[in-house]
Amino acid sequence: MSKDYLPQFYLMLEQQVGIALDDTKQYLLESRLKSLATQNRYPDVYALIKYLIQNPIGATHWRAFEALTTNETSFFRDKHVFEALKNKILPELIETRKKEKALRIWSSACSAGQEAYSLAMLLREEFGYLNDWTIDIQATDISEPILEKAKSGIYSSMEAHRGLDAHYLQKYFTAIEKGAYQVKPIIRQMVNFSHHNLVGDWPYYPKFDLIMLRNVLIYFRQDIKDKVLLKIHQQLNGSDSVLILGAAESIYLNNLYSLVPLDKISFYKPNIPMKV
Ligand SMILES: C[S@@+](CC[C@H](N)C(=O)[O-])C[C@H]1O[C@@H](n2cnc3c(N)ncnc32)[C@H](O)[C@@H]1O
Repeated sequence: MSKDYLPQFYLMLEQQVGIALDDTKQYLLESRLKSLATQNRYPDVYALIKYLIQNPIGATHWRAFEALTTNETSFFRDKHVFEALKNKILPELIETRKKEKALRIWSSACSAGQEAYSLAMLLREEFGYLNDWTIDIQATDISEPILEKAKSGIYSSMEAHRGLDAHYLQKYFTAIEKGAYQVKPIIRQMVNFSHHNLVGDWPYYPKFDLIMLRNVLIYFRQDIKDKVLLKIHQQLNGSDSVLILGAAESIYLNNLYSLVPLDKISFYKPNIPMKV
């Protein structure tokens, strides 16, 4: 069992996915890669890592990287954020976009889709009068298996009960077999899921009025965070568009954004030079 390849593997993971690991997280590496090592008939995780270092990036690499992502999420995660969306952020965006009658939202690093579906349900429930608007919710993640789950809209009873109140569960979900629930098509069709790596090459996206980028930058080192936040800035649709980060995330000394503090949360607006 040779651990000689670990430093090279940490570097590879960071370059490909952004996630920063080091020897203090070896327990995580061992537990998350164990089943992939067994499936590929390696005697242990370190033999798998040796293979990954010695071979060009391919399917096994991506399975390993995906296994090292943390997909923790829930419906209406951090309820103060959704309160702020309902009472301030969305009403203000709707007011300034009423000529175009269009709203573009990006749930980036969306995990199994709970955040994107929460946004869709909130819009339908509280802003039903926007029925003649074009509302586009893009949801992206690096992990293909988690995106498949998101697209299915199927959640275990435990997942469905985390963050959803009875009213939403009854109105927007169908009970299916084994106590699981599925998001109703009326909500599913509001969200478009696709693959996107925040630290890879970005495809062309039209600009967004609201970007949710929560609980993913915490896994990245500062220089990678800065690069991602620069690209996110270019994706925001004007100085009144909004970026929401996770509760434990912030932008340091960055002249690209202004912090807007509210009662219980903060969000960001991009600083964009006035056109002359
Ligand atoms: C902890 S979850 C956060 C989910 C959701 N945003 C929330 O706050 O509940 C982090 C997600 O980031 C995704 N992720 C990690 N690295 C990524 C990258 N380089 N590009 C895109 N998504 C990434 C993971 O696959 C995972 O689903």
